Amino acid sequence: MGKNGNISSSVIKRLPRYYRFLGELQKQGIERISSRELSERMKLTASQIRQDLNCFGGFGQQGYGYHVESLHEEIGKILGVDKCLDTIIIGAGNLGKAIAMHINFESRGCRLTGIFDSNPRLTGETVGDIAIRHTDEIEEFCKLNHPVIAVLCIPKTSTQEIADKLVGLGIRSFWNYSHYDLSIDHTGIVVENVHLGDSLLTLTYRTNKLAEE
Ligand code: NAI
Repeated sequence: MGKNGNISSSVIKRLPRYYRFLGELQKQGIERISSRELSERMKLTASQIRQDLNCFGGFGQQGYGYHVESLHEEIGKILGVDKCLDTIIIGAGNLGKAIAMHINFESRGCRLTGIFDSNPRLTGETVGDIAIRHTDEIEEFCKLNHPVIAVLCIPKTSTQEIADKLVGLGIRSFWNYSHYDLSIDHTGIVVENVHLGDSLLTLTYRTNKLAEE
């Protein structure tokens, strides 16, 4: 695997978790950690950790382990937390407001710049320090501010139509919470579909399995 260019998607999926764990270790004042200790904390095998971290340049040293702060920083750079990707939320209902209030966009390389809703009664209401705008303003807003990420918190019926429109306005990435698995026939567009219910169903299955044992 190359130094940064072609890291496999399964490694990329594990990176945010490494980043979070290392951040917590750093807060606890831990300077270095062996792959064995890290593996015990993260419930991964030590060889999996070594393999993962070797993908982008072997941060560990024989007999020393990993330097927590530099590894945290390096993984952060790979993930792009030092970037500032302008982000908008579409749909300012319960979910859209909760995401606006409780997700720390800045610490994840993003910056929330706008919230839009088609319900005129919500126009002007503020969420945190951002005023909700009517969806009629999206076009002008995108032309002026060039956001690149959209968080979709709208019902599934309107998701595809809105997403296609946003692609035309320069949005490149969708964090899609609507119950609709977005597929976009444009190259250079990335989608993360999020279904909290799927995670609950996995738990349901595992709970029922436990009861059968
Ligand atoms: P909500 O009804 O409180 O809010 C939806 C908001 O979207 C409303 O304010 C509505 O005016 C607005 N809206 C509808 N069509 C729009 C459009 N075309 N453009 C802009 N705004 C539009 O619903 P809630 O609880 O916030 O959930 C939002 C969606 O997310 C729902 O479809 C729900 O099923 C889904 N959901 C998904 C979860 C997940 O894990 N993926 C978890 C919870 C909800």
